[in-house]
Amino acid sequence: MDSFAFIIHPIDPKRDVARKYPLLGKVLPERTIHFLSRFWPPLQLSHVTGVRSAATGKEIEGWLLAVPYTAQRMLTLPVREVYRKIIAVGHLAEQLGAKMLGLGAYTSVVGDGGRTIARELDIAVTSGDSYTAAIAVAAVRDAARRLNVNLNQSTLAVVGATGAIGGVVSQMLAPYSARMLLIGRRRGPLEMMAEKVLVAGCDEAKISTNVADIREAEVVVTVTSAGGDLVKPDMLRQGAIVCDVSRPRDVSRQVAHARQDVLVFDGGLVRVPGQVDFGFDYGLPPELTYGCLAETIALTLEGKFEDYSVGKDLSLAQVQHIDALATKHGFKLAALRSFEHKLDDSVIQRIKQEFHPD
Ligand SMILES: NC(=O)c1ccc[n+]([C@@H]2O[C@H](COP(=O)([O-])OP(=O)(O)OC[C@H]3O[C@@H](n4cnc5c(N)ncnc54)[C@H](OP(=O)(O)O)[C@@H]3O)[C@@H](O)[C@H]2O)c1
Repeated sequence: MDSFAFIIHPIDPKRDVARKYPLLGKVLPERTIHFLSRFWPPLQLSHVTGVRSAATGKEIEGWLLAVPYTAQRMLTLPVREVYRKIIAVGHLAEQLGAKMLGLGAYTSVVGDGGRTIARELDIAVTSGDSYTAAIAVAAVRDAARRLNVNLNQSTLAVVGATGAIGGVVSQMLAPYSARMLLIGRRRGPLEMMAEKVLVAGCDEAKISTNVADIREAEVVVTVTSAGGDLVKPDMLRQGAIVCDVSRPRDVSRQVAHARQDVLVFDGGLVRVPGQVDFGFDYGLPPELTYGCLAETIALTLEGKFEDYSVGKDLSLAQVQHIDALATKHGFKLAALRSFEHKLDDSVIQRIKQEFHPD
């Protein structure tokens, strides 16, 4: 049976450590978890079963593996040290017999987007970023349609527009947007991205290094490696649509309490074909997963055991190809979720009636 492995790591240190070690998660302070994460060995978390292609009936299996580093630790340790531990987990995947390895969350954010890791391993590697981009764009278009927001008459901001996912999401949304606001930390790469979105079909593209400028936008996609809490309640325009692809989340939890007028949802969630059992609770309902893990599974279902979405410069062709493969094998966009809960249709209807009436 063809198989895959996928690497995850703690996003919310106390909560996620408690998923594997309930007592340690309860008693250890967060800063101790950050400290210890440097010394904790790689782990095999679970055996994944029950994934079956809707197109071919092919069944595959997989393993969830953990690099114990927290996101904060991965951003601050020397990149070579982080690579060493990720590569050690890759060797564990090889020993288990996996033919495809997916790099979850910050394991592809650090360094060169998986290139060095792919070079050091005998099995195929994907960051999963192409399919993440495809479904984030699909979710944004779906939310805009349901809220009666016409993208062609709106300002659409992408925070993290110079990143691997943010760059390709910006280009994919350009043909549908009247104006784009590209936000990041460095003006040079932002200027280059602005040229690309103009070529891709947007009439107007502005850049900014100030996240608070998202106040100008009716629609916001945020996909950064800021480590969390980047988007605060006072930064959002009334009735805004906000798609948060980042893990840890960019949108502060305060937004859920303080801004009942905005629609915030998790970007990049899909329903897996078959009767999947991930064997480990990583915070989603059992049948749903993130775009990056879905890409790893879709490539394995297809038997396409070659590196995919590695590096920081993703192409539109790559995104379209994996989107078509995943659709063929039966992946479906998940219902919108916000801060660990399914978004009730009544919430969407209320925001629509109050802020975007026909
Ligand atoms: N939901 C999912 O299924 C899924 C799947 C994969 C990844 N992700 C998440 O997606 C996010 C982005 O991943 P990626 O691979 O695209 O990362 P990336 O290539 O490293 O890009 C990150 C982007 O964030 C920008 N950034 C960082 N800190 C910022 C700040 N304080 N203010 C504004 N911009 C900032 C960076 O700007 P610079 O150009 O200045 O560095 C860069 O443009 C991560 O949080 C990752 O965990 C989610």
